Amino acid sequence: MSTTPLDETPMLRISVYGTGYLGATHAVAMAELGFQVMGVDTDVHKVEALAAGKVPFYEPGLPELLEKQLATGRLHFSADLAAAAAWGDVHFICVGTPQQKTSHAANLSYVESAVSTVARNLTKDALIVGKSTVPVGTAAGLRTLVAQLAPAGVDVELVWNPEFLREGKAVNDTLHPDRIVVGGASERAQATMRQVYATPIAEGTPVVMTDLPTSELVKVSANAFLATKISFINAIAAVCEAADADVTVLADALGHDVRIGRQFLDAGLGFGGGCLPKDIRALMHRATELGAHRAAALLQQVDEINMGQRAAVIDLALEACGGSVLNRRIGVLGAAFKPETDDVRDSPALNVAAALHLRGAQVTVFDPQAGDTARKSFPTLSYATSIEEAVEGSDVLLVLTEWSQFVDAHPEKLASLANVARVIDARGKLIPAEWRSAGWQFRGLGRAAA
Ligand code: UDX
Repeated sequence: MSTTPLDETPMLRISVYGTGYLGATHAVAMAELGFQVMGVDTDVHKVEALAAGKVPFYEPGLPELLEKQLATGRLHFSADLAAAAAWGDVHFICVGTPQQKTSHAANLSYVESAVSTVARNLTKDALIVGKSTVPVGTAAGLRTLVAQLAPAGVDVELVWNPEFLREGKAVNDTLHPDRIVVGGASERAQATMRQVYATPIAEGTPVVMTDLPTSELVKVSANAFLATKISFINAIAAVCEAADADVTVLADALGHDVRIGRQFLDAGLGFGGGCLPKDIRALMHRATELGAHRAAALLQQVDEINMGQRAAVIDLALEACGGSVLNRRIGVLGAAFKPETDDVRDSPALNVAAALHLRGAQVTVFDPQAGDTARKSFPTLSYATSIEEAVEGSDVLLVLTEWSQFVDAHPEKLASLANVARVIDARGKLIPAEWRSAGWQFRGLGRAAA
């Protein structure tokens, strides 16, 4: 067995398990930082695509960086987990932790399986670094698993290093993180982590070394705070609407207070995606298990306000169509859960589009990137290939994801295509006066009706 301390290894070999949004970006970024990298996934199709320079999802900047790093010879992809475990010095666990089908708890089976495979197949001293979002207490359990499964004589440590990347900005967030949090690391593991992140640390990224449970909780608390901020402004949006005030102006005014900040104060259809909804539910579940009932109650309200926004937009569409959408044509702009992604996991936009379709409306959806992923989830909706096609003949137009091309669309040109020029801006990014002067009846969440 190797006895070289990891922090003295001339060039670390980094294995990254899971090549979804998180893992694929992390693997490419690690190669960009100069390491030898093996990206590993049990899905052979994903591995083959990545090895051929194709990113199997839309993430701006990632295809270019993938191509660049494949050309250096530092970056490889493989479906052989055991071989990657034997090859690497540092093993990043980036597999998913989706919500369980039957409860709010996180499904940890992918994390447990990846960590077990790595531990079982180690042939030299190693560091296992968890990046997946997990309920507090998970990493301690994984340590026991590693101790049981690692071959005798191999010195292996498990630490937690949560990831905060946003889809659509994943490359920049990974290469230039706001902070680096490491939980449960010995001095030797701390030195290895500082070696891995030497470049961002040299750029001034703060490092927080802490214990395992704190590191696990930092991630879910960050997402819970962001979700709370969104639900707060959405709750205030309802007050604005009732009082003929404008929540977008209010948010700008609030945002000038540096203690509050403007980010995550966009009122509208609320949060979705693969992280915020499932992470606050998993935290709710875990907080209840731990007896922290107030935290669970707070997050329950956040979730309810958020889901209520989808109902509010459906109600506005019903109202616009005189109480029933049966056989009405509804144009929908946006399917992705936010702009700059093709991700439709728990997308509020698709949820609203599908609900209106189920009420008998003829719904035509256009999204610049998420048309294909949306079609896989909701094949019964109609999909357009342009804004104009979605607007054509519509009785009401819904703007459900704030892609810049929707925000920059010409209301005059579109008005002539609609059957009835009626728009519901569910993301608060259109300028009501422009749309109204182009002949549109305009409704927005948190904005005066007239
Ligand atoms: C989030 C966290 O931001 C990131 O740090 C974490 O690692 C993963 O989860 P992401 O899911 O990519 O990232 O999306 P994010 O940009 O946070 O947006 C989440 C949702 O909130 C989107 O549906 C977005 O439309 C919505 N949102 C965001 C609002 O409704 N209002 C806002 O002001 C901001």
